[in-house]
Amino acid sequence: MNWENESQKRIEELENIIRAYLPAEEGYQKRVIEAMNYSILAGGKRIRPMLMLETYRLFGGKDKIIEPFLAAIEMIHTYSLVHDDLPAMDDDEYRRGRKTTHIVYGEAMAILAGDGLLNLAFETACRAFDMEPHHPHIGRALQILAGKAGIYGMIGGQTADIQAEGMKQDEVTEELLLFIHEYKTAALIQEAMMIGALLAKAEENRLEAVEKIARNIGVAFQIQDDILDITGSLEVLGKTAGSDRKNDKVTYVTLKGMEQAKKDVENLSAEAITLLESFEEKNEYLNQLISYLIHREK
Ligand code: IPE
Ligand code: IPE
Ligand code: MG
Ligand code: MG
Ligand code: MG
Repeated sequence: MNWENESQKRIEELENIIRAYLPAEEGYQKRVIEAMNYSILAGGKRIRPMLMLETYRLFGGKDKIIEPFLAAIEMIHTYSLVHDDLPAMDDDEYRRGRKTTHIVYGEAMAILAGDGLLNLAFETACRAFDMEPHHPHIGRALQILAGKAGIYGMIGGQTADIQAEGMKQDEVTEELLLFIHEYKTAALIQEAMMIGALLAKAEENRLEAVEKIARNIGVAFQIQDDILDITGSLEVLGKTAGSDRKNDKVTYVTLKGMEQAKKDVENLSAEAITLLESFEEKNEYLNQLISYLIHREK
């Protein structure tokens, strides 16, 4: 398999699907729609829809029913980034190789653009009902889409992340840091893979295994993000490096050290791949994607 070609093909496919669900920039609300499109069309790795699509394919999914959910998860993820960059949160100036949404459109529009993307995500995902009214799992997929992004998911993790700012080093325990990583980041990776599995009608025991696999991938993804905040640059990352230090965050690297952080990214990912390989269903691209994430530089 040619990794570069296969990835390129998938990214183009995902870009087209996301674009198809974006609103036209017109009407009295034109400005907020421009801000929404500015943030979501800036690119980004599209890891969450990619993991959703590949998990869907792993379990034999072949239909278009997945498409509204692919667009929806990237809308939710993008809204979380727009809000994460706001002055009240991480106060960052660059994202996805561009100035952040609030720098270009102002804070009020950035807040509204995030809200707009979040609502559009659910409106978009609900279109799956029009495509296959008798599909048995759309309701449950919507529940996961909402739940894993909410207070028992991403928003819960962001809350703990913000509250941990400025805490003394010994106040932020490993347990708290793992909660933050699991909720602010792994929850959306779980959402991605679980919806892929559900819509492909995977068996219940597979769904449970996928939740575990995605937890490992997601925690490893956030540890690598913490590493890159120290070792990366604006040019390569497309976002401001050194943000965690500026905000006095306790990260996986400050808690466990750089060497241990790197080892844990490898170990968590290896565990995920081993579990995935225990299934009789196979998807070589998905395995390679998880390996690629270990050494990603952006
Ligand atoms: C950034 O996510 C936020 C984290 C949870 C670490 P990504 O690294 O997937 O950002 P994009 O979508 O590629 O910009
Ligand atoms: C953010 O984590 C996770 C979100 C839910 C947005 P970070 O604050 O570390 O993400 P970056 O580094 O700004 O992308
Ligand atoms: Mg943050
Ligand atoms: Mg941030
Ligand atoms: Mg970060």
